Amino acid sequence: MREGCHGIVILLLFGMCVNSLGAFVGVNLGTDVSNLPSASDIVAILKSHQITHLRLYNADAQLLKALANSSIEVIVGVTNEEVLRIGESPAAAAAWVNKNVAAYLPGTNITAIAVGSEVLSTIPQVGPVLVPALYSLHKALVAANLNYLVKVSTPQSMDMIPRPFPPSTATFNASWNSTMYQLLQFLKNTKSYYMLNAYPYLGYTSGNGIFPLDYALFRSLPAIKQIVDPNTLFHYNSMFDAMVDATYYSIDAFNFSGIPVVVTETGWPWSGGANEPDATIQNAGTYVNNLIRRVSNDSGPPSQPTIPINTYIYELFNEDKRPGSVSEKNWGILFSNGSTVYPLDLASGRATANSSTVYCVAKHGADEDKLQDGLNWACGQGGANCAAIQQGRPCFLPNNITDHASYAYNDYYQKMHAGGGTCDFDGTATLTTIDPSHGSCIYTGSSNSSSGGGVSPPTALGPSSQLPGASSKLQVSSYQLLIWVIFSWALMVSLT
Ligand SMILES: *[C@@H]1O[C@H](CO)[C@@H](O)[C@H](O)[C@H]1NC(C)=O
Ligand SMILES: *[C@@H]1O[C@H](CO)[C@@H](O)[C@H](O)[C@H]1NC(C)=O
Ligand SMILES: *[C@@H]1O[C@H](CO)[C@@H](O)[C@H](O)[C@H]1NC(C)=O
Ligand SMILES: *[C@@H]1O[C@H](CO)[C@@H](O)[C@H](O)[C@H]1NC(C)=O
Ligand SMILES: *[C@@H]1O[C@H](CO)[C@@H](O)[C@H](O)[C@H]1NC(C)=O
Ligand SMILES: *[C@@H]1O[C@H](CO)[C@@H](O)[C@H](O)[C@H]1NC(C)=O
Ligand SMILES: *[C@@H]1O[C@H](CO)[C@@H](O)[C@H](O)[C@H]1NC(C)=O
Ligand SMILES: *[C@@H]1O[C@H](CO)[C@@H](O)[C@H](O)[C@H]1NC(C)=O
Ligand SMILES: *[C@@H]1O[C@H](CO)[C@@H](O)[C@H](O)[C@H]1NC(C)=O
Ligand SMILES: *[C@@H]1O[C@H](CO)[C@@H](O)[C@H](O)[C@H]1NC(C)=O
Repeated sequence: MREGCHGIVILLLFGMCVNSLGAFVGVNLGTDVSNLPSASDIVAILKSHQITHLRLYNADAQLLKALANSSIEVIVGVTNEEVLRIGESPAAAAAWVNKNVAAYLPGTNITAIAVGSEVLSTIPQVGPVLVPALYSLHKALVAANLNYLVKVSTPQSMDMIPRPFPPSTATFNASWNSTMYQLLQFLKNTKSYYMLNAYPYLGYTSGNGIFPLDYALFRSLPAIKQIVDPNTLFHYNSMFDAMVDATYYSIDAFNFSGIPVVVTETGWPWSGGANEPDATIQNAGTYVNNLIRRVSNDSGPPSQPTIPINTYIYELFNEDKRPGSVSEKNWGILFSNGSTVYPLDLASGRATANSSTVYCVAKHGADEDKLQDGLNWACGQGGANCAAIQQGRPCFLPNNITDHASYAYNDYYQKMHAGGGTCDFDGTATLTTIDPSHGSCIYTGSSNSSSGGGVSPPTALGPSSQLPGASSKLQVSSYQLLIWVIFSWALMVSLT
């Protein structure tokens, strides 16, 4: 995916830290966008969606400057065009680190350098200098005393694992054995991580019906269609998990362990051409929301249950200027005005490790003047329905600014967050999964809401909501084919 990331393309991965220990979900930002917001507007958009991790495909000076003091963690990128020179010249690597990393730390929290984009599968002729480039960059970081802050790695495509299913027998393309061995050695020695670009959308569409759409979209499968690895008997609930596990098993085949896999790109296009029927807004919304929920539960894939799968969504904005198919231009999760393309709460992982409704309420102890301003705004310009907190109505009592603001904030949030509305109100608001309803005072979004009261919570696209036509794609015959495929791989492996 994303071959031909040219110099002008910057992919910013926006990350959102779920909490300091838990898994985070980030987002890529590519800049082949005709109406790209300014660097400071991009940072404002990131903050408004509570995004705390970001990856650039290059080292754009404006963005790196604008990100200073933002507490957003940043991966900067060496472009594919730059890899050759850096691989051949340690001096070029040192100059790159000084210009693009050392100059911004510590104000801008650069935590990693991603060297190239899918170099081995897209520009194999540069492959021989890839690991030397990593070493040279690392040495330059050591010289600048930044190696404890900044990791070096290189994102690879799933194409490097030609037969990912079943995961237990996956190995890297043997043509690259010596490069992969050196890469893993480097990652191990420098305590870095493996960067994986994993696209169930591509696995699903190239499978031509072998895999159920539900499997690609993290939706539960009926028992008869469960995907089971015949060697380990692990159940794979999603193709995403299977791809991550295939990578762990491929690393394991070289006898390396303790190298975490971070998913540097994954996503789903929301619009496509006539020959791309699965690139729909419903599928994209389902994939991304379920991805956030999956990653936020902090568990790893079946073979590595304790290693969270930190992940960056591809991508922030549609890159309408990218060449290729219609879907290629439609992976964005936000419009350039900062609104979400489909209902999506990027911060939901923090408040909902499960699929509960998220409510937006006033913080206890918040400044009363600010609460009053927030309440006035929500009920006025914000468009919240504040009838229930008027005298004589169910939420009037307790007649307390905090309670009234909570009701108004939440009504606004339930209606507007799908379109980009946030839960902030000058710092006086916070998200919670605890239903604030009491007695006959029912908050918008509560399951006790009367129909027509609230709008659906962000979790409406969760695993239980079957979208029309989404579930019956897999015919029994293709399921049998899948089982056959899995067993024949297992057989082939056991014969060799
Ligand atoms: C970051 O903080 C430093 C020190 O307070 C200040 O000089 C600088 O202008 C700030 N940068 C941005 C982009 O806010
Ligand atoms: C930068 O990110 C690292 C890694 O998560 C974190 O430990 C550190 O506190 C961050 N630094 C700042 C100044 O925010
Ligand atoms: C493995 O990599 C080589 C060298 O890039 C390539 O020619 C070959 O097609 C790859 N094999 C598979 C099965 O992808
Ligand atoms: C490549 O590495 C794999 C896994 O370690 C091994 O099974 C295979 O024999 C190697 N192939 C070559 C050509 O060295
Ligand atoms: C990994 O270790 C096993 C057991 O020690 C050994 O048989 C195998 O050859 C090793 N594989 C590689 C690629 O070093
Ligand atoms: C987390 O997700 C994994 C994979 O889908 C699942 O097996 C596990 O039960 C989930 N854990 C919790 C606590 O929900
Ligand atoms: C943001 O842009 C999208 C697409 O152009 C548009 O549909 C939406 O109404 C805009 N949202 C706001 C709040 O202006
Ligand atoms: C969801 O998580 C919240 C907060 O951790 C917890 O209070 C609640 O019981 C959970 N709900 C379900 C259905 O697991
Ligand atoms: C509102 O209620 C909270 C909690 O009962 C209390 O701490 C606070 O002092 C009250 N505020 C006002 C203005 O009455
Ligand atoms: C919602 O309704 C159920 C059944 O009527 C009731 O038991 C529950 O307490 C209500 N919850 C709230 C928060 O009002």
